[in-house]
Amino acid sequence: MRLEVNGRGHELTEDDERSLLEVLREDLDLRSPKDGCSPQATCGCCAVELDGKVVYACATSAGKAAGKSVRTLEGFDERVRAAFAAGFAEGGGSQCGFCIPGIVLRSACLLEQNASPTREEIERELRFHLCRCTGYKKIVDSVQHTAALLRDGQLPPEAKRSGRVGTREPKVGVREAVLGRQQYVADRSLPGMLHGALRLSDHPRARVLSIDVAPALALEGVERVFLAGDVPGERHLGLIVSDWPLMVEVGEETRFVGDVLACVAAVDRRTARRAAAAIAVELEELEPLATVDQALAPDAPQLHPGGNLLSTSIVRQGDAEAALAGCAFVHEGTYTTQRIEHAYMEPEAALAEPTADGVRVLSQSQGVYEDRKQIARLLGLTEAQTVIELVPNGGGFGGKEDLSVQGHAALMARLLGRPVHVELSREESIRMHPKRHPLRMHYRLGCDADGMLVALHARIDGDTGAYASVGMKVLERAAGHATGAYTVPHTDIVAQAVYTNNVPCGAMRGFGANQAAFALECAVDELCALGGFDRWQFRWDNALVDGGRTATGQRLSEGVGVRTTLEAVEAEFRAARFAGLACGLKNTGIGNGMPDSGTARVVIRAADRVEVHHGWTEMGQGVDTMALQTLCEETGIDPQLVVVRTRTDDETPCGMTTASRGTSLVGNALIEACKDLRRDLVDHTLAELVGREYHGEWTCDWTNKPGKSRTGEEVTHYSYSYATQLVVLDEAGAIEKVIAAHDAGKIMNPTLFEGQIEGSVHMGLGYAYSEDLPMEDGQLASTKLRACGVLRAHETPPITVIGVECPDEHGPYGAKGVGEIGLVPTAPAVANAFWAFDGERRRALPMQPPWKS
Ligand code: FES
Repeated sequence: MRLEVNGRGHELTEDDERSLLEVLREDLDLRSPKDGCSPQATCGCCAVELDGKVVYACATSAGKAAGKSVRTLEGFDERVRAAFAAGFAEGGGSQCGFCIPGIVLRSACLLEQNASPTREEIERELRFHLCRCTGYKKIVDSVQHTAALLRDGQLPPEAKRSGRVGTREPKVGVREAVLGRQQYVADRSLPGMLHGALRLSDHPRARVLSIDVAPALALEGVERVFLAGDVPGERHLGLIVSDWPLMVEVGEETRFVGDVLACVAAVDRRTARRAAAAIAVELEELEPLATVDQALAPDAPQLHPGGNLLSTSIVRQGDAEAALAGCAFVHEGTYTTQRIEHAYMEPEAALAEPTADGVRVLSQSQGVYEDRKQIARLLGLTEAQTVIELVPNGGGFGGKEDLSVQGHAALMARLLGRPVHVELSREESIRMHPKRHPLRMHYRLGCDADGMLVALHARIDGDTGAYASVGMKVLERAAGHATGAYTVPHTDIVAQAVYTNNVPCGAMRGFGANQAAFALECAVDELCALGGFDRWQFRWDNALVDGGRTATGQRLSEGVGVRTTLEAVEAEFRAARFAGLACGLKNTGIGNGMPDSGTARVVIRAADRVEVHHGWTEMGQGVDTMALQTLCEETGIDPQLVVVRTRTDDETPCGMTTASRGTSLVGNALIEACKDLRRDLVDHTLAELVGREYHGEWTCDWTNKPGKSRTGEEVTHYSYSYATQLVVLDEAGAIEKVIAAHDAGKIMNPTLFEGQIEGSVHMGLGYAYSEDLPMEDGQLASTKLRACGVLRAHETPPITVIGVECPDEHGPYGAKGVGEIGLVPTAPAVANAFWAFDGERRRALPMQPPWKS
């Protein structure tokens, strides 16, 4: 068989069973087609042109492509490629970048047919693609920018940029990502590299009676099979509680369908996966605990030595019961939210190689220093012997905080003395990594006759699944954000995280604040209906202000922008016939008694190369660009000279890239680092400073756990961000537009800020009415990406972002985190809009929208 790829012939054997995607990537090293979900043909990351038609390469067999002509992004004219790189850099259409090469390929084919497509025409073409980061708006903008550049015939020279804070500096690395040249873990290889595959449990709860590896070893090309007993160090992993075994041992119980029983190293990925499937596992099936109520029943089997209740978080101020008794109006209701999938386009992967005394791991995780800690413990190494290098991350949203396959890759590489690459399939990814918690929230919310909130009594139960992950912190955050962006003097809030045999739940963008906002903001509308209050005015009257106190009793000294964001949407709210409002509050920084700390280093490597080292994960949100802009703001250094990188042997330690804190911690640390550099630059050129290093550090160590203040003054977080969102429906009940007004303290980069909010709103809309990941008896109803319900471009309504700036006292230049708050108010704003339209109060997510009723 022969096919033509980018104008060159390529021979295949008659019996080649591979997909076209495998052929392109493995034989021809063409890396622009990405594997986001093969063979599910859903995400479009693998799009290529086959005889003039765009196809999913993952679902096209090599045999079907035989005799045909294939074009990948690498095969397009250089002028077209340069125009797309410039168009996306200008339009801000790429965040993590993983979906973009496929989208660019399809758009390039579109522009060959239609030089001036409308937004609707571009969105229609993009219906075969998923993007989890952008909300598509800036992708469409970028395609239109590109079309204009191509029509003009000549690319304008790149404008001189200052890189300073507040400018629309293009995202670091955007051109490489757009053209498919950004190398994710799956794109990397090393000489002598083997491929690993995992054998997962078939049952959520079962005793492992035996594991027979002989059938796997009998396959040609299999190097070795590893079992739990091969782990030389501490076998159990976890960010807070070490309860998650790298592999389950014979004699132990599995706890969910993503538990690993064995892993295999072989000469290629196909062989490794075949071998993993061939391992004979004997299990004694046990009844799974599928719900919180089953797990909390007195006679329930205990899934962990400490029982099934992972944590209880309590937030209490004043006397809520007595205050509710005296309220003029009290609304009581139960609200539920669903489990959802992060659906980042890049599945989990890791590449590990042995070093002289340890191991080096290329990781896409959200915290390379946490990876180092856990992998060192796993292998019985010191942290100095364990080097973790961050490679571009194709989307995280919290789902790449826990180790996934890094530990398995490191174990196999260390024991075999050869590099080992492990890459999950989409199905395995959906089975393994922690999800957003489904919560059940019972709220009693009361106000006085004037519509001033008085008290909240809330009981919140969260299904945290098989392992702790950060479940206790998610529920703690739900409790701490239970009163949202309002002053509520009396609170009695109890939130529990409960182990079950479901897929673990952990961090996901918003981290418990989203669920609490859904319950609260729906309850606020219901209370307004009870008392006859105006929905906007009620929110404005009760909004947190400077000097106000959060649910935990924290006094907010300054920079509280809730009212400013409400005012930004008032006119549109008043003008709309069917509209829903919701406000939001989200912490920046982990806080709750945990230190938030960041370090940064500036290294003058050469007269034309200035390196910024930090420990945070660039996962599309733009932390590398924030670092570059801070450096340029502080020193005036040309942004073209700046390189940003993250690896543990740079020793810039920090925690997980979580809690919307990257910008504030890297920014504050860099401002410190730049103090001496700025002084040196007064009398010296960069050439004279080659070899010099400048170090900076910033730590917040003054927060306390709720109710555990030692000073009497509660400080659960060093900063918060604030928002109001408005959802407007048309006469048919469809969403006409979403207006998102957000207080970012200081907008460091308007393009990236808008992109974060647009992408979040898109995710929040899916959360509201299209996304779900149901489980029954511990089994996932589906492991298909398509079934997760992520909205596509043509399904995403117009989103307008309004940025306001109420500076934060601890943020660099006043900045607050914006990574998560973008979807905190979205689902309740949608629910309140639906209610305004048809009078049906929807208290469970995902909601049935009016247009489907
Ligand atoms: Fe589209 Fe990240 S930029 S998935």
